[in-house]
Amino acid sequence: MSNFIVQTNQSAASTAAAKENARQAQFDDLVLEVKHVSGGYREGGFFGRGGSYKEVIHDVDFVVKHGEILGLVGESGTGKSTLTKMILGLLEPEKGEIIHHTKRPQIIFQDPYSSLNPAYTVEWAVEEPLRVFGKYDAEERKRRVHEMLRRVDVPEEVWHAKPDELSGGQQQRVSIAAALIRRPRFLIADEPVSALDVTIQMQILKLLKNLRTELDLSYLFISHDLNVVYELCDRVLVMRKGRIVEQGTVDEVYDHPKEEYTKQLLKAAE
Ligand SMILES: Nc1ncnc2c1ncn2[C@@H]1O[C@H](COP(=O)(O)OP(=O)(O)O)[C@@H](O)[C@H]1O
Ligand SMILES: [Mg+2]
Repeated sequence: MSNFIVQTNQSAASTAAAKENARQAQFDDLVLEVKHVSGGYREGGFFGRGGSYKEVIHDVDFVVKHGEILGLVGESGTGKSTLTKMILGLLEPEKGEIIHHTKRPQIIFQDPYSSLNPAYTVEWAVEEPLRVFGKYDAEERKRRVHEMLRRVDVPEEVWHAKPDELSGGQQQRVSIAAALIRRPRFLIADEPVSALDVTIQMQILKLLKNLRTELDLSYLFISHDLNVVYELCDRVLVMRKGRIVEQGTVDEVYDHPKEEYTKQLLKAAE
C-alpha cells in the first residue's frame, strides 16, 4: 500500500515537472534581447555636437520571453521610460544592442488622453493605425475595429464619442485597442494604470491578463507600484538609478529579495 502511495506521489510530481517544462518551453523563444545597453541624453549643443552628455541607463541586460509578462519596477526618475524609448528606437543607445525578435512593439502610456486625438471619435482612433497600414479596405477595417472594441469592452454607445466624453478607464481601453489593432506580438505598457482609481486599475489589469492569452502577447509592464506588478507579472526587473539591481520570478523577488534596495521598495509598498 505504501508503495502505491509513493508511486502516486512520484507520478504527480512528474506531471507537475512536465507542466513546468511545457511552461518553460513556451517561454523559450525570445521576444526581445536588451544586451548591455547604456545611454542617455545630450543636452545643449547642436545636432548632437558639443553640449553635455548625461548617461541615464547603465549596462542594462535582460530578455523578454515569449508569452511572459515582465515587470520593470523602480522609483520615478530611475530611467524606465528612457529604456522604453531605446526599445522603441526613439533614442539610440550609446553602448550595447537591442534585438527584436518580433515586429515592432506597440506601447500604451499612463495618460491615454494625451495619446488620443481629442478631435476624433473612438472608432476613428482605433481605425487610424489600420488606415495608415493600408492593407485592408474600409469594410474590413470597420470589422476589425469593432471586434477589437468589443474585445477590450468598450461599450458600443461610446464608439462615436470623443475621448473627453469617456471615463479614464474607457480611454485606456481605447488606447489598448489602438495599440493592438495591427496585432503586434509585444506590448510595452508604461505605467498604464498609475493614473486610474484602484477598482479601475484592477479591471484594466484583468483585461491585460486576458488579452495576453487571447492574442498570444508578451508584455514589458512598467510600474512604480510593486503591488500592481505582483498582481500581473511573471518575472520582474528591479531598476535603481538606471541599473537592473535584481531580477527573478515575482515569487523569488517578493519572497526573498536579495538587494537592500528591493527590500526597501517592498517595505514602502506594504
Ligand atoms: N528628454 C530628456 N532630456 C534630458 N533628460 C531626460 C529626458 N527625459 C528624461 N530625462 C532624465 O532621465 C532620467 C530618467 O527619467 P525617466 O526615464 O523618465 O525615468 P522614469 O520613467 O523611471 O520615471 C531623469 O533624471 C530624467 O530627468
Ligand atoms: Mg516614466
